[in-house]
Amino acid sequence: MPYKNIIVETHDSVGLVQLNRPEALNALSTELMMELGEALAAFEKDIAIRSIVITGNEKAFAAGADIKEMKDKTYMDAYTQDFITSNWEAVMTCRKPVIAAVSGYALGGGCELAMMCDFILASDTAQFGQPEVNLGILPGAGGTQRLTRLLGKSKAMEMCLTGRTMKAEEAERSGLVSRVIESDQFMEEVMKTARKIASKSLPALMMVKECVNRALETSLSEGLLFERRQFHSSFATQDQKEGMAAFAEKRKPEWNHK
Ligand code: CAA
Repeated sequence: MPYKNIIVETHDSVGLVQLNRPEALNALSTELMMELGEALAAFEKDIAIRSIVITGNEKAFAAGADIKEMKDKTYMDAYTQDFITSNWEAVMTCRKPVIAAVSGYALGGGCELAMMCDFILASDTAQFGQPEVNLGILPGAGGTQRLTRLLGKSKAMEMCLTGRTMKAEEAERSGLVSRVIESDQFMEEVMKTARKIASKSLPALMMVKECVNRALETSLSEGLLFERRQFHSSFATQDQKEGMAAFAEKRKPEWNHK
């Protein structure tokens, strides 16, 4: 499908989406978010894809929602169009693993989109922030909630109240990103990680993702019960039989993703 604001590629079992509005630092316009949603839905349906990467370019992952598109919206526009909810949350419904690969700016909606992904790999050039307060608004795509869960109240509050940006090293130290990678090896290392994930059994990946996400939504005892039941369910898969047989026979497993 031809897209205007994103570039979509498949690399073996990895689906790659590159946000591609460099003239606007990948500002997340309505059209871009619709296209991203369509691309993610297509990867979800494609049984050959087992991990997904969302990235930008060297200067920007995304500098936020498109301010020029938003500036004249009224309350009634935002409310009736269900701004954000209507087209921003496609990544949250993906059951396959989604990595945010962030170089340069991840600001406002860009930081929020990265946080919707399963984990963030950051180039040493990455900068994160929720600068909405500088525009007389507040984060509207989950920034106040996800940043607080990831960084704790004090740092989340400071970030959102001052609008300051955080460099990659601080973001890793604070738990916002899983790993910082040198910029000259960034995409190579990202794809290596995505390929490693894609080399596993798809149902096992999906169960892991469901369980880790449940940890953020529920009590420990309920979460443990959920994990235990998923663990029990994994014994119904052919890949569990294959994975354990391969270990015992000292060979590589051959998954059939069932
Ligand atoms: N929306 C629309 N256009 C944007 C944009 C955005 N979020 N961010 C950058 N651009 C555009 C600029 O207007 C500029 O376009 P022109 O060349 O046509 O003037 C182009 O991208 C390049 O940007 P700059 O010239 O500003 O580049 P810079 O290197 O000097 O500065 C920056 C970079 C500090 C990131 C600066 O662009 C900036 O502050 N951008 C806005 C960041 C922001 O406030 N993001 C939050 C948006 S609100 C939001 O996201 C709400 C939500 O929670 C959903």
